[in-house]
This record gives sequence, structure tokens and C-alpha cells, in this order.
Amino acid sequence: NKKITIAIDGFSSTGKSTIAKLLAKKYNYIYVDTGAMYRAVSLFAKNNNFVGVDFLDSEKLVSNLDKISLSFIFNEALGFAEMFLNNINVESEIRTLEVSQLVSKVATISEVRKKLVAEQQLMGKEGGIVMDGRDIGTVVFPDAELKLFMTASADKRATRRYKELLEKGDDVSFEEILFNVQERDRIDSTREDSPLVQAEDAIGFDNSDMGIDEQFERICTLVDRKL
Ligand code: C5P
Repeated sequence: NKKITIAIDGFSSTGKSTIAKLLAKKYNYIYVDTGAMYRAVSLFAKNNNFVGVDFLDSEKLVSNLDKISLSFIFNEALGFAEMFLNNINVESEIRTLEVSQLVSKVATISEVRKKLVAEQQLMGKEGGIVMDGRDIGTVVFPDAELKLFMTASADKRATRRYKELLEKGDDVSFEEILFNVQERDRIDSTREDSPLVQAEDAIGFDNSDMGIDEQFERICTLVDRKL
């Protein structure tokens, strides 16, 4: 069977990773969550005090990029790979609202993008990969056989993210989650380097009113056509 590359891009909290994980499992592909990589770099910046309440020292971060080693290690029990930063499992730490509030700023830094894009291209060079992010179909794998672009209303997206964080026991308000989702979309869509845009050959999916099962079924039909 042919091993293709599946690129999933779109706005924050549109369920990209849920679909990507299901696809990886069904087709026995590798799943790479590129957002986790930008989040881990942000955590590194935070842990090293390159960020404060109202500043981000991008020069310091850039000059320390060679001290960041990222790896994904598959967790059998969870059924997906967890993010490791310098050999420490940071999977849960990178999902906090604090990191979410920092990550889009870090993701505007070209040197950061260059490092992560190179690592992503290396991981996907054999095909058989599902990668989700903001620039996968446009920059990382412009030749991907299948490109999807996910959207949903900001309200639906914030509701999903809010429920997730509440279930984890985080003390957050719906308003701050909604603000964060909209603010990240704004920064991601307007940055100079690799802004979030739908690739010309990507298939758009608005899942505001579509359940996971229906979406997954439709997307599998698209994948099967490429095999
Ligand atoms: O996918 P997730 O919401 O975890 O991504 C977090 C942030 O990382 C995004 O809001 C965006 O700023 C950045 N990102 C990016 N390019 C990617 C993946 C994520 O700029 N390929």
C-alpha cells in the first residue's frame, strides 16, 4: 500500500489533533502534533525567564535554540506520542493556558520556525505521516497528497477547549479561553512568516455542526481515494 502524507491545518481548537490521531491509528501512520513543538519551545523560554508578564526576549531565545532538544515518545497506554523537552516529559505542562498565551508570539519568530520546520520535514520524509499545525500544507509539506483545512465557529471552539481544561482541573473562565482562541487565530493569521492560510489545494472542513464520527468517515473516504 502507498504511504501518503496527510497535512491538517486550521484554526485553534478545531479538532485537528482528534482527527489526526484517529487517522494515524486507522492507517498505521505516524502522528506529529507540531503545535506541541511550538508549545515546548515556549515552555523552554518561560522556564529560562526569557519571558515575563509583558515581554518576550526573542534574541535570548534565538541564541539558546541549540539547547532545545525535542522528541516524541509513544505512550502505549495513551495511544499517542508525548512531547519531551530535553528528555523531560512536558506533555501536560505545555497544555496550560499560560503556555497557550505565549505560544503564538513565540511562533512568529522566524528562527524558531526554521528549526521546527526542518525537524518536521525530517520526520515526514518517508511518508506515512499525519501532521497537524498551521503551515503544514503551505510550508512544511507543500506536496502532501492530502491537505485538510479545519474551521469552526469561535464559540464552538472555545467551548471545546474550556471543557477540556475543566476536565483536567484547571481553574479557567470561558471568557479567557474564548479570548485566547481568538487572539491566537489573529496572531497566527497575520504574522509575516508562514501565516495561517488555507493552501489552494486544501479541502476545507467546517465542523461547527458536525460530529467526530461523521467528519472522520468523510475524511477516510478522501484518504482512501489517494491510496
Ligand atoms: O495546535 P496548537 O493549538 O497546539 O498550536 C499552538 C500554537 O502554535 C498555534 O496557535 C500557533 O501559534 C503555533 N503553531 C504554528 N505552526 C504550527 C503549529 C502551531 O505557528 N505548525
